[in-house]
Amino acid sequence: MKFVPDHRLLAFLVQVGLAFAVHFVRADEKPMMKAVVAHEYGAPEVLKFEEMPRPEPKEDEVLVRVIASGVNPADPLTLSGKYAREFGTHLPLIPGYDIAGVVEKTGAKVTNLKAGDAVYGYPTFGGGWAEYVTVKQWEVAAKPKTLNFAEAAAVPMGALTAWQALVDTAQLHPGQTILVHGGSGGVGSFAVQIAKARGARVIATASTANQDLLKQLGADVAIDYTKTRFEDVAKDVDAVLDPVGKETLARSYGVVKKGGIVMSLVARPDPAECAKRGIRAAAISVHPDAEDLTEIARLIDTGKIKPVVTEVLPLSEAIAAQRQAETHHTRGKLVLRIADEPKG
Ligand SMILES: NC(=O)c1ccc[n+]([C@@H]2O[C@H](COP(=O)([O-])OP(=O)(O)OC[C@H]3O[C@@H](n4cnc5c(N)ncnc54)[C@H](OP(=O)(O)O)[C@@H]3O)[C@@H](O)[C@H]2O)c1
Repeated sequence: MKFVPDHRLLAFLVQVGLAFAVHFVRADEKPMMKAVVAHEYGAPEVLKFEEMPRPEPKEDEVLVRVIASGVNPADPLTLSGKYAREFGTHLPLIPGYDIAGVVEKTGAKVTNLKAGDAVYGYPTFGGGWAEYVTVKQWEVAAKPKTLNFAEAAAVPMGALTAWQALVDTAQLHPGQTILVHGGSGGVGSFAVQIAKARGARVIATASTANQDLLKQLGADVAIDYTKTRFEDVAKDVDAVLDPVGKETLARSYGVVKKGGIVMSLVARPDPAECAKRGIRAAAISVHPDAEDLTEIARLIDTGKIKPVVTEVLPLSEAIAAQRQAETHHTRGKLVLRIADEPKG
């Protein structure tokens, strides 16, 4: 008997086969995202622009669609490998400690956030320079309502550091005086404003070009450190915030009154020097904290503090942004734009 193929049956079988193939290929396909990634430690130039699998949130995590991400001096330091042993950062590495975005998905144990929520925060291990990042639920909080996403991305690390130093550590209160070195930078610009919001008197330092900014931020006394020795102006202060270190820190002990405090972001203050003068010392180490972020958002939404966004750059400028962060002379904050601002 001769086999005569039925063309309609053949066409049907081919269609079913194709449908199965497409189904299984799609089921196997992981959602992808664009990211800035380092596969080795080194200079900013090791960063590559890549497609990689989108992360999945664990049960206590949320997946955030990142709209914008801030730039910090910590980014090039992390990339250099400096934090690998200290904080357990590992390769491949996506920089970006400041994020503002929209919750895409939540883990099973997340109760305080839901898909669609606008959030901002600080992922402990970075990862913000990507279309998506997973964060622990305590690393993010509701985005300040009065800021757009690019502005909100300029807040977390700088404001949390200033908050945890001035409020948690120094417990700064009305009538006290604080000397804020580097008052025009990412941390200092928040420190000046938070201190003013707490009723303190603020003496702040910056270079000539940033004297106007110190005044705009509310500093009572602005010192141009390129022209004036700060110790000639600041005397018997209650607290010093030092984001500079070395000689600036060494000269700061002498301006603090007995019982006052020296806080450094970049070095461990000399215990012998502090004991001799009867002053306290603290080496600040910022940590993500949703409650602090909520308090900071409240201060922003009531008009008490605001971020200083110097420039919003496309993600393709990630390497240049890291180079700028390395200078330690950024005015306010640089922000990288990852996606368009959501409408409405
Ligand atoms: N320990 C922590 O938890 C922690 C957290 C955040 C940041 N940090 C560190 O703290 C440092 C500051 O961070 P940031 O984000 O504020 O940096 P930034 O945005 O680069 O700001 C640095 C500021 O310091 C000023 N400055 C530079 N040299 C100075 C000097 N000799 N005297 C006074 N001011 C000077 C600059 O002002 P001019 O441009 O006018 O000179 C600039 O405004 C970085 O090293 C960062 O890694 C540590």
